[in-house]
Amino acid sequence: MSGWSHRHVLDLAAFSLDDYATVLELAQRFRALPTSGARKLPALQGRLVTTFFFEPSTRTRSSFELAAKRLSADVQSFSPSSSSLSKGESLLDTVRTYVAMGADLLVVRHRCTGVPAALARDLEASGARVAVLNGGDGLHSHPSQGLLDLFTLARHFAPERPGPEALRGRRIVIVGDVLHSRVARSNLWALTACGADVVLCGPSTLLPEAFAAFVAAPPPGQARDPVDRRGRVTVARSLEAALPGADAVMTLRLQKERMHQHLLTSLEAYHRRFGLTHQRLELCGRPVPVLHPGPVNRGVEMSGALLDDPEICLVDEQVTNGIPIRMALLYLLAAAGGPAG
Ligand code: NCD
Repeated sequence: MSGWSHRHVLDLAAFSLDDYATVLELAQRFRALPTSGARKLPALQGRLVTTFFFEPSTRTRSSFELAAKRLSADVQSFSPSSSSLSKGESLLDTVRTYVAMGADLLVVRHRCTGVPAALARDLEASGARVAVLNGGDGLHSHPSQGLLDLFTLARHFAPERPGPEALRGRRIVIVGDVLHSRVARSNLWALTACGADVVLCGPSTLLPEAFAAFVAAPPPGQARDPVDRRGRVTVARSLEAALPGADAVMTLRLQKERMHQHLLTSLEAYHRRFGLTHQRLELCGRPVPVLHPGPVNRGVEMSGALLDDPEICLVDEQVTNGIPIRMALLYLLAAAGGPAG
């Protein structure tokens, strides 16, 4: 695949415009395949994909597993609660056990930032030829979600040719709990790389002003930004300021499990100020799509009526698009790792 150089997928900060184009093009081809009947492709025959989810997941894990099966891989899923981790085995030793069983591609979710990257590094150092896909780590990164959101928006703006250029010059509003959201961070890298301007919107307790400079420099440990010119990031403190002129709005879940201080007065008060409704969306000045990575707190981030409106709400479309995006990532990493042996 043209110019693809990644051995792992850990953080979208490392993605070039060509990387986004490659993933989206492949995902569009996989998206066009029939979903019933003879729907399996042989590309990953003989490969073993193992999912390690140390945090709950509904969508990401099952979507990766389905994507792997659609490419004819064998799939194994590790469950932390019934494993020897509870007997004191280290995470790396546990993962190595699965590598010794033949795992080629590992999908890792963990509540701590950096765990997938640390595993990738340690496994490389031990000589293991495996690829690590970050299924979400702490507050840091959720690359496959960022890519499926990008794909969903690109398909919305340019159904025939949903490449990165479909995002150029668009105004995308991300509203909600940005502070605790790895999805927002991955979206910031992806959207600005494709030339979209991002408006972040939320109360200062959930959206520190510093987020305006989030993509201004590559993260520590990465020498350079592979993207020459990114879209702009701005911060707005009200929907009235953020929504006029928007091309799409993405809402984020209030991550109550990660909120250790009292960051909100009440969910009702939050909904009154930042919750999306049909009426609020009129501020955009035209019909625009609404996205949410899920799981949704119905009636908090958006009204139940909006969530159930398929003309506006792309939540189901995002879930559907997650499968071809993850097929594309598994395919590219398997190809980069050489033939099955
Ligand atoms: C997100 C996650 O786990 O980061 N969900 C997802 O993967 N679809 C967002 C969330 O939990 O709110």
